[in-house]
Amino acid sequence: MEIRPLKLRDLENVRELEIACIREYFSEILENKWEDLPQDWKDNLGSTSKKAFKTYLSSGLSFVAEEDGEIVGCIFAQMLHNIYDAENMVWVDNMCVHSYFRRLGIGYKLLKAVMDEGHKQGANIVHSAIQPKNQPSIMLHKKLGFFMDRRDIALFDMNDYNKKNVL
Ligand SMILES: CC(C)(COP(=O)(O)OP(=O)(O)OC[C@H]1O[C@@H](n2cnc3c(N)ncnc32)[C@H](O)[C@@H]1OP(=O)(O)O)[C@@H](O)C(=O)NCCC(=O)NCCS
Repeated sequence: MEIRPLKLRDLENVRELEIACIREYFSEILENKWEDLPQDWKDNLGSTSKKAFKTYLSSGLSFVAEEDGEIVGCIFAQMLHNIYDAENMVWVDNMCVHSYFRRLGIGYKLLKAVMDEGHKQGANIVHSAIQPKNQPSIMLHKKLGFFMDRRDIALFDMNDYNKKNVL
């Protein structure tokens, strides 16, 4: 099993893998069937969406795990600047390991690859957003020494901002 940087030619395979992981997640929280969700909304999901992929490809901080020529895991990250008092912050957007290949240390190696490269690029901190009930992901991050400071974040959806009548 090889961990290597993400390449343009990986797009189709990593898209498929990421969507499979997103579907797995949504099947637990959404009542709607995946097939019934709007296609344009689904197209914009994830680090491998048309809009996001180039950013993660060019960051030098995204990796895939390859086994016998097949992609079995991927992680997407980029460097952000001057956030949370950090000059250089690695932002881990998403990671996924094919369900058949889980618990073999692949997620660990992928996240470690991001940390190693982030360190080389001068990162002060690594930020990874984890859903509160995602125990495998929480345990993986803890194993690598991440701490959770219980910071809650507030989000505001800027779509249709003018129609929202914020005074
Ligand atoms: C989270 C995920 C990436 C972990 O990948 P993985 O390759 O299975 O993880 P690893 O085998 O490297 O596990 C490393 C450590 O993480 C923890 N861990 C991983 N999966 C776990 C699970 N199901 N239950 C408890 N701990 C788990 C363990 O501490 C494990 O070390 P150990 O096997 O020596 O006990 C994978 O489960 C996945 O793709 N899930 C769906 C997508 C997702 O949730 N992505 C994360 C978004 S933030």
